[in-house]
Amino acid sequence: MKKWHTLVTELEKEDALLLPRITGATLQDLVYNNYATYEEENGEIIAFGALWETPDPHWRELGTLWVNHIHRGKGLSSKVFSTLMKNNVNKLMLITHNKKVVKQVEKFNWAKATISTWNIVPWCATCKPCDRVQEAQKTMCPFRAVDNECQLWLFIP
Ligand SMILES: CC(C)(COP(=O)(O)OP(=O)(O)OC[C@H]1O[C@@H](n2cnc3c(N)ncnc32)[C@H](O)[C@@H]1OP(=O)(O)O)[C@@H](O)C(=O)NCCC(=O)NCCS
Repeated sequence: MKKWHTLVTELEKEDALLLPRITGATLQDLVYNNYATYEEENGEIIAFGALWETPDPHWRELGTLWVNHIHRGKGLSSKVFSTLMKNNVNKLMLITHNKKVVKQVEKFNWAKATISTWNIVPWCATCKPCDRVQEAQKTMCPFRAVDNECQLWLFIP
């Protein structure tokens, strides 16, 4: 359907999003299964967010949080975030240092992992794929829990 194709095209412009997993069919499937939500205006998707499956069945990743450029700053990311939280029964994680996303996780009482609590989430769920550190070196990753690098946020209902 056109609106999903347009959404994927918009998401592909964003460097911060993990792109290979994003297809129209996958996004629709997440919505169908209540693992994603979106806001729409005039038949176009203007905000989106999803709870992605991770290789560890106990954890989902809150990801692909996105608001169309012309609609930013109007509270839509908070609306999407809160809807995802409302429907959620899973343990959640996300890695970001985007200040707007950090504002959301703080608002919804997520906990910030420290270097010593980072391993609560298995590596396969947190740092895969990672384009900065080789798989074998991940347990010594210098970017973990460092300001303006990788901050891991956790929510356990
Ligand atoms: C991240 C994104 C979804 C945020 O949406 P947005 O509409 O731009 O967000 P807002 O301007 O409403 O800001 C969200 C919150 O951060 C706050 N905020 C804005 N700028 C901020 C700053 N510099 N520092 C701290 N908080 C800030 C806002 O006050 C708002 O708080 P509120 O919800 O309590 O009102 C959007 O910018 C986006 O799509 N970016 C591209 C994709 C992306 O990078 N996604 C995140 C991947 S981790």
